Amino acid sequence: MTVLITGANGGLGQAVARAFLADDPECCVVLGVRSNREAADALASEFGERAEVVNLDVTDPEAWAEVVSGIVERHGRLDVLVNNAGFHRDGLLANLSVSDWESVRQANLDAVFHGCQAVVKPMMSQRYGRIVNVASLSALLAPMGQTNYAAAKAGVVALTQSLAKETARSGITVNAVCPGFIDTDGLSEIDPDRKKALVRTIPMRRFGRPEEIAAAIRFLASPEASYVTGAVLKIDGGIM
Ligand code: NAI
Repeated sequence: MTVLITGANGGLGQAVARAFLADDPECCVVLGVRSNREAADALASEFGERAEVVNLDVTDPEAWAEVVSGIVERHGRLDVLVNNAGFHRDGLLANLSVSDWESVRQANLDAVFHGCQAVVKPMMSQRYGRIVNVASLSALLAPMGQTNYAAAKAGVVALTQSLAKETARSGITVNAVCPGFIDTDGLSEIDPDRKKALVRTIPMRRFGRPEEIAAAIRFLASPEASYVTGAVLKIDGGIM
C-alpha cells in the first residue's frame, strides 16, 4: 500500500504516518512537506525505504501533479491520500484581512480540491483508492472568530460528500474527519487561560491526542472500510 500524507511535518501528520507505518509492514508512506522538513526527515530516517519525504506546497496544483506522477512512477500506484495540511488564522470578520481570508481558504480548501484532482484519475485507473480529508469541528460548529477557517473546513466537508458520490462506483472512498481540540502545534497559539476554559467545554475534560485522530484516519483508509464513503466523523471527546 502506498500512502501520501500532506502537512507531514505537523503533529497530526506525524501521528498519521506512524499509524500507517506501524500497522502494515508492507506500507510505504510519502510525507509531503512545504518548508521545514526536519520532523518529516527524522521520521523517514527511522523507517528506511518505507518512508520518503517530498516537497509539496498543497496550494500549488503543479507541485501536486509532479508529486503524484512521481509516486505512480516509483511505486506503480497510490492507494491512500490523507489531505491533512492546514492552519487557522483567527480574528473577527470585521478585522479580517483579505489575505487572512484567502490564505486560510487556499491551504484548507483549495488544497483539498487540488489534491483530490491530482489523485482521482490514477485511483480510477487502478479502481481502488482511499481519500481521507482532515476537516475540523469548526466546520460543524462555526465558532466566532473563525469565519475563514470554518467556511474553508465546511467546504472540505461538502467537497468530501460530493466527490464520494462521484467516485462511489470506482472503488474509491472519500471521507472526512472533524477533530475537536487536539494537542498539537495547531493549539499552541491559544493562551493558557483560554485553554483551561476550553477543556471545561469538552465532556471528556481533556484535549485529544494526535494518535486518537490517526487511528480513525487509519480505519477510514483501510481496505476494511470499503462500505464507508461520504462519512464525516466527529472526533472531539463528546462536544455536541
Ligand atoms: P500543525 O500546525 O502541527 O500541522 C499542520 C501542517 O500543515 C504543518 O506541518 C504545516 O507546515 C502544514 N501546512 C500548512 N500550510 C501548508 C501548505 N500550503 N503546504 C503544505 N503544508 C502546509 O497542526 P495539526 O494540528 O497537525 O493540523 C493538521 C490538520 O488538522 C490541519 O488541517 C488542521 O486544520 C486540522 N485540525 C487540527 C485541530 C487541532 O486541534 N490540532 C483541530 C481540527 C482540525
